[in-house]
Amino acid sequence: MPAPKTFHVKSFGCQMNVYDGERMAELMTADGLTLADANAADLVVLNTCHIREKATEKVYSDIGRLRKHARQHGREPMIAVAGCVAQAEGAEIIARAKVDVVVGPQAYHTLPALVRQAAAGAPALDTDLLALTKFDQLPTRRRVGPSAFLTVQEGCDKFCTYCVVPYTRGAEVSRAFDAIVEEARALVDAGAREITLLGQNVNAWADGTRGLHDLIRTLDRLPGLHRIRYTTSHPNDLTQGLIDAHRDVESLMPFLHLPVQAGSDRVLRAMNRSHTRDSYLRLLDRIRAARPDIALSGDFIVGFPGETEAEFAETLSLVDAVGYAQAFSFKYSPRPGTPAATMADQVAPEVMDDRLQRLQTALNRDQQGFNAATLGRSCTVLIERRGKLPGQMLGKSPWLQSVHLLTDAQVGDLVEVELVQAGPNSLSGLERISQAA
Ligand code: 5AD
Ligand code: SF4
Repeated sequence: MPAPKTFHVKSFGCQMNVYDGERMAELMTADGLTLADANAADLVVLNTCHIREKATEKVYSDIGRLRKHARQHGREPMIAVAGCVAQAEGAEIIARAKVDVVVGPQAYHTLPALVRQAAAGAPALDTDLLALTKFDQLPTRRRVGPSAFLTVQEGCDKFCTYCVVPYTRGAEVSRAFDAIVEEARALVDAGAREITLLGQNVNAWADGTRGLHDLIRTLDRLPGLHRIRYTTSHPNDLTQGLIDAHRDVESLMPFLHLPVQAGSDRVLRAMNRSHTRDSYLRLLDRIRAARPDIALSGDFIVGFPGETEAEFAETLSLVDAVGYAQAFSFKYSPRPGTPAATMADQVAPEVMDDRLQRLQTALNRDQQGFNAATLGRSCTVLIERRGKLPGQMLGKSPWLQSVHLLTDAQVGDLVEVELVQAGPNSLSGLERISQAA
């Protein structure tokens, strides 16, 4: 197979995968390849997710589709599987789908070398879990959008019984303070106005005695950086220091994604969540006391093994008690190698469907309620892209709502708006100071 000249990276799953995908693209560009469409590229990198079975199966159907389309056009692209499926399944993917390269989430700095090896005729694989070495070997960030991701922490030591992350991303590790600040500075130079600090367990980030709140307070002073966010947090690592930062740091946006997964203590124990319904609710009280307008977001799993109707009702009542601004909810999916996959009393698919629907109805109701409650408020919107209509731009409010507005402002500008109308998925805003004024 000739060495590829063009490439395409397609990322699935979480925001960390989006970040990794961007870094892979930068790496391949630095290696002399040019970006192309998925259907035209010589090399296609599928940056995969293993979190639920559906996500994993998608990889194989995607590979099939890619191959079929390429063959119809007389081409045979090189295919690389990266990300969490690569880590979990390793050489099995080469056997099952005859791909050329398999590279895990901690090893993708070797992608250019693996691609060369594959071009020389041998399938290439690297699934080393040597955390953090990759960051030192990635090129400097050059061009990014106004809202950029920055991975500060990876991996997880919590071992929730349903979750593959500790196996695919490895143990909890934090990047060094200085390296993060340096990357943040490069991101701002490259166009970022907002940075979302990423980690599977981001609030466990630590460097010596410094915690995430110290990092946030330092980044707050970075000229040109207007907004800071972080995700995903674990309730048990949410320190008073971080809560205080939500009170004091203006650039720290009033939004918190704090997964709870379920509302019943029996289920939380079986999930090995190490927090209770009550400790979670009390934590939210403290956060709301520090930052009353904070928008809360969460993750939920319905149909965890053994979940009864009464236990599921406790999830619904927790949702009622919190009033989430937005949330993600999933049917439990048994993952190979996790303790929950072999637990007794797996819940029937129809029961899961029914519970998911009821949960989503409640979450949608609260999301719309939250959006409606922000109408009439004035806030800044960070413009991220153009809308479909002439003069229309799309951006995000501090509470992470999508806002569209008519404005002369450009991508990357912060605009003062009044939120005037709420649709199911977005709001419309009115620019407060007109250009003519
Ligand atoms: N089945 C369903 N949902 C899961 N999640 C993690 N593992 C599973 C699983 N096995 C959900 C959790 C987590 C989010 C990223 O994905 O809600 O917070
Ligand atoms: Fe999916 Fe988890 Fe991997 Fe992200 S870290 S891609 S959510 S399996």
